[in-house]
Amino acid sequence: MRIVLVGPPGAGKGTQAAYLAKNLAIPHISTGDLFRANISQGTELGLRAKAFMDAGNLVPDEITIGMAQDRMNQPDAERGFLLDGFPRNVSQAEALDEALKRDGVRLDAVLDLEVPEDEVVKRIAGRRICRKDSSHVFHVTYSPPKQEGVCDVCGGDLYQREDDSEDTVRKRLEVYHSQTEPIIDYYKAQELVVTISALGKVDEVTERAMAALQGDD
Ligand code: AP5
Ligand code: ZN
Repeated sequence: MRIVLVGPPGAGKGTQAAYLAKNLAIPHISTGDLFRANISQGTELGLRAKAFMDAGNLVPDEITIGMAQDRMNQPDAERGFLLDGFPRNVSQAEALDEALKRDGVRLDAVLDLEVPEDEVVKRIAGRRICRKDSSHVFHVTYSPPKQEGVCDVCGGDLYQREDDSEDTVRKRLEVYHSQTEPIIDYYKAQELVVTISALGKVDEVTERAMAALQGDD
């Protein structure tokens, strides 16, 4: 399956993507995680992306699209993928459509996670990420690690993302409404969008998402 996950910052895209990708046996491709890995490895691409991310802006398309496509061209993504955080504007969606067309394949669904803004702010404020692997995500109240500040999965240090400060979150939400939300209409025109509520426990949301993707919601 080829799936795009959309939703505001803090909706739980990364959290859900980890479970959905496992259930569907497809790789989870997060452009945010790819940028953070590049930043922690000190690559040229990471250096270029960092200032945009810290300010809550989108990283320019000429950096993002190539990076996402390189990842989608890896052998493990040949039979499908779950995209998290890409595409994030209409021109990225158009570039993705062109690439898929070249490969003679198409998207199966665009899963839209709906969460009220006050909940998103609470989720982001309490989020803690593992320094060794940014796909290991915790929340100080909703999913606390067994030992404070330590990752349950790999023992790495937990930290708060630099772009999770209140001001930057406000900016990221503004960017989401102005630049990312329009892709929902873009994909509605292709009849690909399934919208679910992302409120409730993590496993309840996963169940809802699986039912929606299997068309029996
Ligand atoms: P990115 O990393 O994609 O960030 P985002 O879209 O803002 O989303 P988040 O990672 O903040 O949230 P999430 O929805 O994954 O929530 P999570 O599962 O962690 O992008 C960061 C930056 O990179 C962008 O601002 C941009 O600069 C750049 N970038 C990335 N892609 C780009 C692109 N395509 N083009 C240009 N620039 C790009 O959950 C949040 C918290 O809530 C966690 O603590 C979690 O434990 C908790 N939680 C999750 N689910 C639940 C639940 N059901 N109940 C209670 N708590 C929950
Ligand atoms: Zn970890």
